Amino acid sequence: MKALVALILLVQIAIYQANAHGPKPVGPSPSLGLRDCDSPEGEEAAAVAVDYINAHHKHGYKYALNRIEELRVFTRRPVGEVVILELDLLETRCHVLNPLPLENCTVRELTEHAVEGDCDVKLIKQDGKLSVTAARCHSSPDSAEDIIKICPDCPLLIPLNDTQVVKAIELLLDQYHSTNDNYFMLVEIARAQMQAPNTIIVEFAISATNCSSKDASENVEACQALSGDQAQFGFCVGSVMYVPKEEIHVECEVYAPQPEVVHPVLADDNVGLLSAVVQGFSHHNLRHSHSSHFNDASESNSAEVPVAPTLSAKLVVKRTVSEPKAEHPGGVLHPRPPQCPGRIHHFRI
Ligand SMILES: *[C@@H]1O[C@H](CO)[C@@H](O)[C@H](O)[C@H]1NC(C)=O
Ligand SMILES: *[C@@H]1O[C@H](CO)[C@@H](O)[C@H](O)[C@H]1NC(C)=O
Ligand SMILES: *[C@@H]1O[C@H](CO)[C@@H](O)[C@H](O)[C@H]1NC(C)=O
Repeated sequence: MKALVALILLVQIAIYQANAHGPKPVGPSPSLGLRDCDSPEGEEAAAVAVDYINAHHKHGYKYALNRIEELRVFTRRPVGEVVILELDLLETRCHVLNPLPLENCTVRELTEHAVEGDCDVKLIKQDGKLSVTAARCHSSPDSAEDIIKICPDCPLLIPLNDTQVVKAIELLLDQYHSTNDNYFMLVEIARAQMQAPNTIIVEFAISATNCSSKDASENVEACQALSGDQAQFGFCVGSVMYVPKEEIHVECEVYAPQPEVVHPVLADDNVGLLSAVVQGFSHHNLRHSHSSHFNDASESNSAEVPVAPTLSAKLVVKRTVSEPKAEHPGGVLHPRPPQCPGRIHHFRI
C-alpha cells in the first residue's frame, strides 16, 4: 500500500515537473546552488544548525544529525554566502536539560521507538563564520507498525497525558523521595511507553525545590522550584508494572548546577505542569521550538536567489526521492550531479 502511494506520488510529481518545467535539464542548474551533502561545508553548516536547533528546543530531547538531505549555497550580496540545509535528525537519550554535550549523547535505537526530526535551516556565512537566520522543524515518532515488524515486544510510545502515565510518575516520585531528603518537583514528562501487557515506562525531568521531602509531605503547595543561580535539574527513568504484583523501579540523575546556563525551559512559566502543546501527543514536537520563519521579514530585502518556493515544493517530494543516481551516462559533457542525500550517520528510519 505504501509502495503504491509512493508510486502514485512519484508519477504525479513527474507529471507536475514535466508540465511545469518541460523536459528535465541534464545536470544541475548552477542557479540552484546544489552541493554535495557530505562535503566539508555541508558537515560544518549542519553542525552549526544542529547546535542552534538544540539550543532553541525547550522540551523533550536533544537531537543528533542523521543525514543531510540537501545542501544549497548561494552568493549573498554585498558579501558572504547563504547556505540552505535540509536535515534529518534523530532523538537522543539526552534531555534538553542534560548538560552533556551532544557528542556524548546516545541516539535512541529504532527499537526504543525512535523519533525523527526534519529541519530546513537557513544560514549566513560571513568572514568564514556561520550563523543561523531561520529554522523550521517538525518531528514525528516512527510508526508503531514499523517497530512491531522488527520487534513485536518492544514498548511503544503512548500519549504523555495518559492517566496511567501521570499516575506512574506520581508513584515513581514518591518512591524516589522515600530515599532522598531533598524534594524535587516534576518539570515535564518527556517520554512514556507501554510495554505490553501492563508495564508503563516513563522518563521525566525534575527540578530541585526549597523543600525537604519532610517539608513537602506536610505542605507540598509551599514548595517552590529553585531558580536563578540555585536552579538544579534532574532526569528520571522509571517503570511501573501493575500485575502480577506492583513493581516500581526508578533511577534519577541530578545534574550539577549550571549557574552560567540560562536554559530556555526556565523561560516557561509551566514548571510542574504538562504544557498544553503535548496534551494528547506522545512526544514533544520540534515544531514548537522555533518562532523563526523562512520568509523572515528581516531577510526579505537581501539580494539572494529566492528559495522559499523551492523548499516547500521539495518537502512534498522528499519521502519519494530515491538514492542518488550514478553519474549521467556520457557525463564528460556535464558536471557531476551533486551527491545528495548524504550518508546515514545512524540508521534509516
Ligand atoms: C564526552 O566524550 C568525550 C569523548 O568520548 C570524552 O572525552 C569526554 O570526557 C566526555 N564528556 C563528558 C562530559 O562526559
Ligand atoms: C519555599 O519558598 C516559598 C516561597 O518563597 C515559601 O513560602 C516557603 O515557606 C518555602 N519553603 C521552605 C520549606 O522553606
Ligand atoms: C489528553 O489530551 C487530549 C487532547 O487535549 C484529550 O482529548 C484527552 O482527553 C487527554 N487525556 C487525558 C487522560 O487527560
